[in-house]
Amino acid sequence: MYTYEEIREALMEVPKPCAYLHMESLEKNIETILELSGNKNIRIASKSIRSVNVMKMIMNYSDRFQGIMCFTADEAIYLYEQGFDDLFIAYPTWDETPLRNVLRLVKEGATITVTIDSVMHIERLEEIAKAENGVFLAAIDIDLSSQFPGLHFGVYRSPIRTVEDFTQVLERVIESPYIQLDGLIGYEAQIAGVVDNDPGQRLRNQIVRFLKRRSLKEIKEKRSEIMKALQKYGVSVRFMNGGGTGSMVTTREEGSVTELTVGSGFFNSHLFDKYNDFQLYPAVGFAIEITRIPEKHVFTCLGGGYVASGASGKDKLPEIHLPKGAKLTKNEGAGEVQTPVVYKGPIPLNIGDPIILRHSKAGELCERFRFIHIIQNGRVVDKFTTYRGDGKCFL
Ligand SMILES: Cc1ncc(COP(=O)(O)O)c(C=O)c1O
Repeated sequence: MYTYEEIREALMEVPKPCAYLHMESLEKNIETILELSGNKNIRIASKSIRSVNVMKMIMNYSDRFQGIMCFTADEAIYLYEQGFDDLFIAYPTWDETPLRNVLRLVKEGATITVTIDSVMHIERLEEIAKAENGVFLAAIDIDLSSQFPGLHFGVYRSPIRTVEDFTQVLERVIESPYIQLDGLIGYEAQIAGVVDNDPGQRLRNQIVRFLKRRSLKEIKEKRSEIMKALQKYGVSVRFMNGGGTGSMVTTREEGSVTELTVGSGFFNSHLFDKYNDFQLYPAVGFAIEITRIPEKHVFTCLGGGYVASGASGKDKLPEIHLPKGAKLTKNEGAGEVQTPVVYKGPIPLNIGDPIILRHSKAGELCERFRFIHIIQNGRVVDKFTTYRGDGKCFL
């Protein structure tokens, strides 16, 4: 959607390193996400954005964007203060103070939902709710991983693997005067978060797609059994959350799911280029500046070592986006202070020119920058703060 020269020109006056958001690409991604998610509501995964203004912008784009999936209780509280509501903290919280603070806001009318997956979580919430004389809104997290011979295909999160596990927790929630069941979540990480169209990995892609097809059948069955169990107990929930950017096309087909979560697809960090089902634009990137030229075709820049979390591997390094053909070196990769870049292409590069990269994951980039510079019609028109720029560091 944009060339090296256009981005270089747009960021000319911005001190480097800097992060940018290309508005036209973000708008295209938003349209694609609305289309790919069928008619489901979309909950925005804040961890993959980490900028209040960007989330507000997306939220205002369509009324199908409903609520935020938060990653910590303190973050949910912060977002509530910023004017958001319907905040679902999708990972369990144990720490007492933030739970207490969440409950106080719920008592005042906020919709902030916490996640539970065990009797221990329930007892923890009960202790706090008793002391505060309140009732928590909670969602039960159901494990949707698949077991194949010698392979756990999925993530290790909730211990609720079967309908029996679920009903045990459900019964305990129903009898608790301190917890109101607000929703359910089942995140099919092995579909949403595992790439299946990695260039140069044909065999792996085929195996992953095969495993995904098998796993999808199980997921569908499990979700509908869970819904039946709920009905049997005469319980209804406000939401059944599922999916992520990588599974929009399959999760939208499930009748029992009321809302999809999407985060990474808005910025489209480079991991999300490698999926078979969709194509999004690189909306967010960062620029580092060439500060020395140690030899012909080698351009060493200041900064750049913004490596993503997760199982370490080459895919967690930032990727050079522009100029096309520029590469990181094997020995140094993206460096703590300096990053050498090899480029033999036609664009003459000089000290002071930028190299444009993309992070592997979407939101983590915002932990490195205080601002995201908004590029529209080829020039910087605004700058939005990130959580870091707001002085916030939630995880
Ligand atoms: C619970 C949950 N839902 C959804 C997602 C998907 O988020 P994204 O769209 O950023 O991949 C994640 C990502 O890890 C997650 O943990």
